[in-house]
Amino acid sequence: MLNGKKIVIGVTGGIAIYKVVDLVSKLRKHGAEVRVVMTEHAAKFVSPLLFSEISGHKCAISMWDGRDEFNVEHVALANWGDLILVAPATANILAKMACGLADDLLSTVLLAASCHKIVCPAMNTGMYENEATRENLKTLSRRGINVMEPACGQLACGTSGPGRLPEVPEIISYLERFIALREGDMRGLKVLVTAAGTREPIDPVRYVGNRSSGKMGYSVARQALLRGAEVALVTGPSALTPPPYAKVINVETTQQMLEACLNVYSDVDIVIKAAAVADFKPRAVADQKIKKINPGEGMTILMDQNPDILKTLGSMKKQQFLVGFAAETQNLLENAANKVKKKNLDMIVANDVSLKGAGFNTDTNIVKFLYPDGTVESLEILSKDTVASILLDRVLEKRKKALTL
Ligand code: CTP
Repeated sequence: MLNGKKIVIGVTGGIAIYKVVDLVSKLRKHGAEVRVVMTEHAAKFVSPLLFSEISGHKCAISMWDGRDEFNVEHVALANWGDLILVAPATANILAKMACGLADDLLSTVLLAASCHKIVCPAMNTGMYENEATRENLKTLSRRGINVMEPACGQLACGTSGPGRLPEVPEIISYLERFIALREGDMRGLKVLVTAAGTREPIDPVRYVGNRSSGKMGYSVARQALLRGAEVALVTGPSALTPPPYAKVINVETTQQMLEACLNVYSDVDIVIKAAAVADFKPRAVADQKIKKINPGEGMTILMDQNPDILKTLGSMKKQQFLVGFAAETQNLLENAANKVKKKNLDMIVANDVSLKGAGFNTDTNIVKFLYPDGTVESLEILSKDTVASILLDRVLEKRKKALTL
């Protein structure tokens, strides 16, 4: 999403400026072209030379520094950028923006520019919570300027509270999401993704589960978010951090996953069911930890079948494009094709979990896509992120075809 984007970074005089040096570098690594405009105050914290070197363009500070690259620099910079991000944005620049003041290069560029603008306020908590700043931020929001909320925590002045500039990965995620929501090919689509394995309790300390890590489902959720979709991620327990901007619904059992899916199902356009669902659950859950009574004696747990979530969703299908996963250890194509029919799916992602580089807890997968018309597409070994991205390409193609019929 950031590749090829032209971004003007407005840097004002806050202590968090050190993070912005890294931000500029990371944005360039993501393929963005960056030009930095600093205020005079910012230049007291960090040499403009550093930003010039890191951005690959001479850092601009003054309207009067005699450069001849642009005819009218403030207009040229204002027209050049696809978006302007002000970070850190001090209370002072926010006040100037709210009033429409243009008394230095940055404030003039901001006033002249018609592109998207994002501000990242960073300041002492008292200044941030001051009614004047609150009012200024409201004014900016009302005018369509996007405000990235500051983080909470220890501040340079020794106090703690809201006012910290968010960390660089968070700012990058915010920018990616910002662009995805405006340009992504999945913007406007609501996607339900299920991930990880469900667990069925035996007693307060034990459960029946499976080896799913959640990596495949989390990759699908991440890729859909990067393409602008609204994502509900219904997830069983997983050690992974959910992708930013997903609406995460944590569940444990199959019944809970079914209920969570049903809660959002009527409203979604696409369902991708990557979760490894526990097919059986113990008939009775012991209130207390089950003890070994007779040494050497085994135990029997009577299991009942769980509902089939995907089959239930398939039986209620209206506008939803339904994608299942088939984890198999034998007769891959035959078993997967049967699941497409039995569960009324539009597509299934089949993988032989016994293959090296495929299945549970790996970073790669080897999959085949099967469709109701019997066609099969085989992919080579790929990262789960790449599999997720190709999967979403196919979903969009097939869905578009189905909608035009
Ligand atoms: N699935 C589900 N509910 C279940 C079992 C599976 O929603 N109770 C979904 C999975 O999330 C997956 C697809 O159905 O998208 C196929 O799951 P899989 O475990 O491969 O197959 P099962 O239907 O459970 O059949 P079997 O275990 O007999 O192969």
